[in-house]
Amino acid sequence: MAIEALDNSYAPYTNFKVGAALLTGGNHFYKGCNIENASLGAGICAERAAFARAWTDGEKKFLAVAIATDPPSFTFPCGTCRQFMAEWGTDLNVYAVKSHKSTQVLSLEELLPHRFTHHP
Ligand code: THU
Repeated sequence: MAIEALDNSYAPYTNFKVGAALLTGGNHFYKGCNIENASLGAGICAERAAFARAWTDGEKKFLAVAIATDPPSFTFPCGTCRQFMAEWGTDLNVYAVKSHKSTQVLSLEELLPHRFTHHP
């Protein structure tokens, strides 16, 4: 699904398409893609786009997220996305997807140890 999500990526400024697929505690999958903007900082990453869709549907628990890119590469989330996703804890499996058969997985705890939080 992360690879599928690349189809709707809007990345005319970097030509780096990113697709994400998020598995929630409600056993639903949500796709997200990066959406760039002429005002560069106004764009959104694929991971946060997927989380926003899930949260809007009332999902409150997140189990795993997969990230695919075009061109294919093992890409783990940017710092902003790590912090965003860590809002709900770091017990989340993060898959970098290079192809249907080639993935790497790390926990969000490994990607963002000692996350910033107001309510430890
Ligand atoms: N991007 C993501 O969608 N997720 C990340 O974790 C890293 C970066 C997007 C933002 C921008 O559209 C493009 O990749 C190049 O930085």
